[in-house]
Amino acid sequence: MRRRADRGAALADPRERARAAIREASVTTTDNTLFPVPADFAKSALINDDTYQKWYDRSITDPEGFWGEHAKRIDWIRPFTKVKDVSFTGDVHIKWFEDGTLNVAANCLDRHLDERGDQTAIIWEGDSPDESEHITYRDLHERVCRLANAMEGLGIKKGDRVTIYLPMIPEAAVAMLACARIGAIHSIVFGGFSPDSLAGRIQDCDSNVLITADEGLRGGRKVPLKVNADKALETSWSVKHVIVVKRTGGDIHMVSGRDYWYHDLVAKASPEHKPAEQNAEDPLFILYTSGSTGKPKGVLHTTGGYLVYAAMTHQYVFDYHEGDVYWCTADVGWVTGHSYIVYGPLANGATTLMFEGIPNYPDSSRFWQVVDKHKVNIFYTAPTAIRALMREGEGPVKKTSRQSLRLLGSVGEPINPEAWLWYHSVVGDGRCPIVDTWWQTETGGILISPLPGATALKPGSATKPFFGVKPMIVDAAGGELTGATEGNLCITDAWPGMMRTVYGDHERFVQTYFSTYRGYYFTGDGCRRDEDGYYWITGRVDDVINVSGHRMGTAEVESALVAHPKVAEAAVVGYPHDIKGQGIYAYVTLVNGVHPSEDLRKELVGWVRKEIGPIASPDLIQWAPGLPKTRSGKIMRRILRKIAANEYDALGDISTLADPTVVEDLVDNRMNRV
Ligand code: WTA
Repeated sequence: MRRRADRGAALADPRERARAAIREASVTTTDNTLFPVPADFAKSALINDDTYQKWYDRSITDPEGFWGEHAKRIDWIRPFTKVKDVSFTGDVHIKWFEDGTLNVAANCLDRHLDERGDQTAIIWEGDSPDESEHITYRDLHERVCRLANAMEGLGIKKGDRVTIYLPMIPEAAVAMLACARIGAIHSIVFGGFSPDSLAGRIQDCDSNVLITADEGLRGGRKVPLKVNADKALETSWSVKHVIVVKRTGGDIHMVSGRDYWYHDLVAKASPEHKPAEQNAEDPLFILYTSGSTGKPKGVLHTTGGYLVYAAMTHQYVFDYHEGDVYWCTADVGWVTGHSYIVYGPLANGATTLMFEGIPNYPDSSRFWQVVDKHKVNIFYTAPTAIRALMREGEGPVKKTSRQSLRLLGSVGEPINPEAWLWYHSVVGDGRCPIVDTWWQTETGGILISPLPGATALKPGSATKPFFGVKPMIVDAAGGELTGATEGNLCITDAWPGMMRTVYGDHERFVQTYFSTYRGYYFTGDGCRRDEDGYYWITGRVDDVINVSGHRMGTAEVESALVAHPKVAEAAVVGYPHDIKGQGIYAYVTLVNGVHPSEDLRKELVGWVRKEIGPIASPDLIQWAPGLPKTRSGKIMRRILRKIAANEYDALGDISTLADPTVVEDLVDNRMNRV
């Protein structure tokens, strides 16, 4: 790696130093600087360059043989005889290991008991630095068995949908695994979502059970989960049982006959439980995610292929070795938490850290203090967190040791080279490779990423496909683009971890993912491939925006805005944001006679928070007397995106608009200018 030049005494201020490092870093990336695999890392890595190439080639030429072998990494009750039955056209279906049976929770717990019953499975680090807990595999197994028995005692059975609305506490993992153990399908709703969003997700899958907590705790602030749940349940009649974990002891209302305290139920339940035998294609979970149109989709994952893929990617992408302490900072409300806090690591018998808090509480050294406290070896986070911490300068990082760190990871959005280099040089002291992992809720696990012992890194590139993944870059018409090129990213064949359907709406699954480019899985992302065959994800090419690594459909924010009585019309786009990656920019047309004001702006932001949740709050609202529409009435978002990004020279052809003067007005009133 290139060493940074001596910056001298003039840069004693840490903020100034960070800025200088960033300025310098930006220069080094224009020439595709390669960061080779560090020699000592390569020595002990599970996969080196040769193995990667050999395994990758085999996975493409002989997928049945390759996956048939690697699927043996998990325990099957009845071994499968068929590996793959997939079609991306016609009757679209995806089946892996379809005649095999297994239990996911038994794979994550029971099979480890003999060998590592007393090893820590979960290190839980609370919101407050004074609170943490080590849970062994034996202990976790017992907790899961108790909850599984308690749930069965309430009549909850295989195939039931169980909604989980919990903070980042061990009970979240216990609840997931208890569902998996009895064959119930969990649907986790992120604790930051509003009562309405929770209700929508409960109703869509007709869930009959809700597991929640009295309150959550984040950054010293309480999150009123049970109050939100009660509101959601006013309109969600399917839910018959509510199981409530006591987290803060806050004052909440329990509805008799419907609500049960978690600790009462598990105290009475037996600590032994026989796991249900599930088919490889039985559902494991539903996870709602935003798309470019309509309400969030229930992405459905099944048991066998998902677990094989989550475990295998976790092991090889993170070069997980026996005894490593691994920490993924995501929330279990997102897919990253499913695959890389719970299922992948536990299937591998790893020690996985679960963090309840936030990066800057009590102060912005917290991540690194936790790394030192628990001797974390592998650390996986999102670019938005890195950028936010980068702002605080090197000081909060450098006052910690971080000597235990061996590998760093990034996920959720493109990582800009500046943030990558800061992560590498400041957090990792130039010693730790970074795996920039590209994947999606739909993909179940990582599809494009370096393998740290095999891949030379380029800052900002997710580099190469994982085993069995066949990326293809296409032009707008669907023609394949070869060599060094840029276009839209498709995947041409199935991998075991991919989603199987949209819950309750297979037609929507086919339409959303397989109809834009017939016969290929369309990711919704733009992508560049360079002359070395490295992939660079350029961001979404549809109407999904990525705010701090969270997916948000512009249509969802628009429908929340137009539900406000003073709003006649709204159009929402993403715009570049220093910390969040993308911010939410809303153009709002008010109903006749209503006048714009600062108070109304605040009211609308508060309204969207209440309707969807804080992650959907518009960052900027621009009053728009009119919106640019074609003569057939379609809003020209391309123009709105350009105006939001302050790129007025690139507005393109506006002559097809019904009223081109609308654009002038919008440009004149662009938020930043007024
Ligand atoms: C984006 C999160 C660039 C991408 C696992 C994708 C990324 C969407 C990366 C999925 C990355 C995720 N580089 N972009 N390393 N990782 N994305 O479903 O646009 O919450 O389509 O899954 O995040 O977001 P989701």
